[in-house]
Amino acid sequence: MTNDNPKTHAARAALDYVKEGMILGLGSGSTAEIFIELLGIRVAAGLRVQGVPTSEQTAEAAREAGIELLSIEHADRIDLTVDGADEIGPDFALIKGGGGRLLREKIIANASDLMVVIADESKMVKTLGAYPLPVEVDRFGFSITAKKVFDALCQAGSSRPDVQLRQHKDSDMPFITDGGHYILDCACVAIPDPAKTAARLCAVPGVVEHGLFIDLARVVIIGDEHSAEILER
Ligand code: A5P
Repeated sequence: MTNDNPKTHAARAALDYVKEGMILGLGSGSTAEIFIELLGIRVAAGLRVQGVPTSEQTAEAAREAGIELLSIEHADRIDLTVDGADEIGPDFALIKGGGGRLLREKIIANASDLMVVIADESKMVKTLGAYPLPVEVDRFGFSITAKKVFDALCQAGSSRPDVQLRQHKDSDMPFITDGGHYILDCACVAIPDPAKTAARLCAVPGVVEHGLFIDLARVVIIGDEHSAEILER
């Protein structure tokens, strides 16, 4: 973590939303991990919060930072979730799931009173879709599901998407999510209608969740080398 890192500026600005006694959704990815590290410093100084992690990796990072964890089954509310994103489009529609944690990230974001997204400016786009959209699918019948996902994306306006089963980065085995599913990475170039795309994908049997986060983020914090800009809607 360096002080002139854009992600660090964004993560530090997100700390202003954290209040004593809050239950926090803890996001996944490198930017969220910087937030967790900074939050740990506040906790060491006496702040009392509990964290609901969006991934096993995040749970480990939070333990190392000294943050008390709370299982989602024991959380009757989540006050605030702070998470990263792979793309941030108009109206704060997001693509998430580059790290393969989209299902838990979405459950936790949707259960939160407020979702704050932290990122560097490279994540801001005019149209979603240059980043391949992750779609989490059940392993049963995944190749048939992949064809239906292709059809759904075409029907929603993406032209000839490339749908690929995600491989584990250290082997030629498929990547398995924390929930035991596969991920289809869907290179669409552009997703002209995110809401229609989300609806089409949800209608495909075998799709567990997709990485389009629509109407969830209300605050986006964009860091640069010097500071952070807070955008709200
Ligand atoms: C994890 O599944 C993703 O949704 C992350 O939020 C996303 O990949 C952002 O990661 P970075 O902060 O590392 O860019």
